[in-house]
Amino acid sequence: QAIHLQDYRAPDYWLDATELEFDLHEDHTRVDSRLTFRRNSAAAADAPLLLNGQGLELLSIHLNGTLLDAQDYQLDEESLTITTVPAEFVLEVSVRIDPAANTALEGLYRSGGMYCTQCEAEGFRRITYYPDRPDVMSVFTTHINADAEQYPVLLSNGNKVADTTEGGRRRVTWHDPHKKPAYLFALVAGDLLVKEDQFTTMSGRNVTLQIFVEPRNIDKTEYALDALKRSMRWDEEVYGREYDLDIFMIVAVDDFNMGAMENKGLNIFNSSCVLANPATATDTAYQRIEAIVAHEYFHNWSGNRVTCRDWFQLSLKEGFTVFRDACFSADMHSATVKRIEDANIMRTVQFAEDSGPMAHPVQPDSFIEISNFYTVTIYEKGAEVVGMLHKILGKEGFRKGTDLYFERHDGQAVTIHDFVQALQDANKVDLTLFKRWYKQAGTPVVQVESHYDATAQQLHLTLRQHCPDTPGQSNKLPMWIPVQLGLIGSNGDDLPVQVSPANAWTEASQVLHLTESEQTFVFSGLAEEPRLSLLRDFSAPVKVDFEQSDEDLLFLLQHDSDGFNRWDAGQRLMLRWIDRARAGRFRLAAAEQQALSALLADTQLDPAMVAYLLNLPSEAYIAEFSAVIDPLAIHSARRQVQQALAVALASDFAACYQRLHSTAPYQPQPAAMAARSLKNLALSYWVKSSAEGMEQARRQYQQADNMTDQMAALVALVNSGERVQAEALLADFWQRWQHDPLVVNQWLAVQAGSAEFGTVEQVQALLQHEAFDWRNPNKVRSVLGAFANQSLVNFHRADGAGYDLLTDAVLKLNDSNPQIAARLLTPLTRWQRLVPAAGQVMKARLQRIKEHGSLSKDVYEVVSKSLI
Ligand code: ARG
Ligand code: ZN
Repeated sequence: QAIHLQDYRAPDYWLDATELEFDLHEDHTRVDSRLTFRRNSAAAADAPLLLNGQGLELLSIHLNGTLLDAQDYQLDEESLTITTVPAEFVLEVSVRIDPAANTALEGLYRSGGMYCTQCEAEGFRRITYYPDRPDVMSVFTTHINADAEQYPVLLSNGNKVADTTEGGRRRVTWHDPHKKPAYLFALVAGDLLVKEDQFTTMSGRNVTLQIFVEPRNIDKTEYALDALKRSMRWDEEVYGREYDLDIFMIVAVDDFNMGAMENKGLNIFNSSCVLANPATATDTAYQRIEAIVAHEYFHNWSGNRVTCRDWFQLSLKEGFTVFRDACFSADMHSATVKRIEDANIMRTVQFAEDSGPMAHPVQPDSFIEISNFYTVTIYEKGAEVVGMLHKILGKEGFRKGTDLYFERHDGQAVTIHDFVQALQDANKVDLTLFKRWYKQAGTPVVQVESHYDATAQQLHLTLRQHCPDTPGQSNKLPMWIPVQLGLIGSNGDDLPVQVSPANAWTEASQVLHLTESEQTFVFSGLAEEPRLSLLRDFSAPVKVDFEQSDEDLLFLLQHDSDGFNRWDAGQRLMLRWIDRARAGRFRLAAAEQQALSALLADTQLDPAMVAYLLNLPSEAYIAEFSAVIDPLAIHSARRQVQQALAVALASDFAACYQRLHSTAPYQPQPAAMAARSLKNLALSYWVKSSAEGMEQARRQYQQADNMTDQMAALVALVNSGERVQAEALLADFWQRWQHDPLVVNQWLAVQAGSAEFGTVEQVQALLQHEAFDWRNPNKVRSVLGAFANQSLVNFHRADGAGYDLLTDAVLKLNDSNPQIAARLLTPLTRWQRLVPAAGQVMKARLQRIKEHGSLSKDVYEVVSKSLI
């Protein structure tokens, strides 16, 4: 069943034009296509035409105007093959589909009162028979027919070129001049309101920007529109990329499997990733919206103008685009904080994937179901790999490379190799070795040994790398690891670096190049023994194994000029505290307490950064730094350290809170967001040490004019241990917000993800709550996703009841929405790293899923690979 990269073959037929006619009716939709094909000159003259199709009712096929008989073609569950075709021909196919019954949310489906599409990766084949592969690109013309009153808004890609109404039916025609693969096709029909704006591109062209929403959401569009304009400007300034149509549309949809989709000129968004106003959305949601709007917009060049040859190249567009949106967010807010957030995701979710049964390289070499490969490895690790290229080539060199890439491949469907080749050609460097990052799965470990020679005034630094085996891959070759570093003197300042071999060092980016399995570098001119600050800015997605004393870590936390490593040193220290708490011997040293106290009082530092410095590593983070994972022990040890900090720094947290508490009206601006993040971090500790803190949280909950403060107060109180009070507030919150689905999602997640409220019984009750809906992926994620990924003590309950809950949900969703089912399954695949008793209990659930009849490809792939 698996598809392999090495089996790639160019298509036998190219498609020059696609014309589609949709006729939308309540109980069905008819789709008529007119496809203009031309044989690939490399193909055999008798090559049959192969079209993909799934769940379609075939009505008729015409070849150059002649109706075909059943003997002219072969039809099966997944394809339509036309045996004999001429070198050039027009194929007309009519099918019937049922969008209202489409619960998988791939292809054309109904969400609430509207129709919408999701075609990436292989959804278009659920709309009509088609060569549904990204290297087949064509010019699309789309006609949409629908009831004029019920569906006043009819949208597709490109420009609207005709609009007529007759007998109560409206017919709108869209034409997209840019060639594109089918996965970028989109259609929307609904009774929607639009918020509009304008953007003038760098060459002076005027673009109309529109956000379409259901009427009740029209007051939630402003921020996305603003983020869109900033993204458009940023891509012009940083990459020289200009928008290329007269209109850019975004549509918000409630039922959506992923975050959003970059369809040409018509992006479709999960409403949770685009809609916001101060009363309903938190700062975190605002920042997510800004990043995703930018991400989808940036795809217009990295993805649409230059697309992927096949799905093994997915990271070509996703890794690069995530890198682009990360730089955008870093420019809008704090670069250090963005780096911390991204490293957190790498170290928790991606490293876990790399050490689990679904580990795969950034360019996988096989898959059963491509939907399972929209992963943190393809996206986030792919972005880290691009980020390393940026560090190696420098800002200007990288830009020269991307300019060449876009120029050379505009309008083409290309490979990851083509991307690296363009960077290489533009900079005249050899990146052959670097490409191993795309081919080898797993997280490399860099072992560090340093030795200072006082007489010679030299530091000898030996770095060794190895990468653990992953499914199907062993004995990996050394990778090119850029290790950004600093040598810190006793006064806290960076010392100048003189290293041999000199060509291993790039001064501009302060990067040491580790390219072999073991290398020793010699630093000279060091009158004192420096402290080492390694892997600054998280310069490579690796683990570092380096012995440093508590004192060294505390020193780095206080003095490192690299903000990322200040945070990292603090996290390493906190991991030690948690370890000691597990062994029953944690004591906060006076110097440590003073350092944290000073950070809380430091008004020069970015408050968002201070909030991260004071934030304990999450349970998932601690787990990834443990050889064997014992979720219950991790939970209680972390609790203990948290409580100790809350008590030791009680007055510091209170003072910090008072200093940052503001009565100014809410603004979703970077400085205000940063201040709120520290204020609310302080509050979360303060409630743990005093009645005064509790009182303040209650006041904040009642008086807040925005969801950030209201939610932070609610979360603080829910996790404070004051059960009766927490229940009352949760009930109050429901009363206030039950009319708003996006707020209700947050309310569900707060409970399902909490150690106190996310018990198996309570999660079962939430699944019965009127707010819950199995067909809505956001609801499923808010309850089951939050439970299995955040409420770890309950999920890992010793009797397996938490695993059973998830198992039942996966089996249920297997039938209605396989993509969501497979995603939900992830936590159950990590049994090998758990303490053996728990691991076996978990494994038995996987077996139960495997034995269930009629598994979707999505679930089958994850389960079967997890049981090897
Ligand atoms: N290309 C979209 C994005 O990252 C995601 C589409 C995901 N589709 C899927 N079937 N998993 O912006
Ligand atoms: Zn993307």
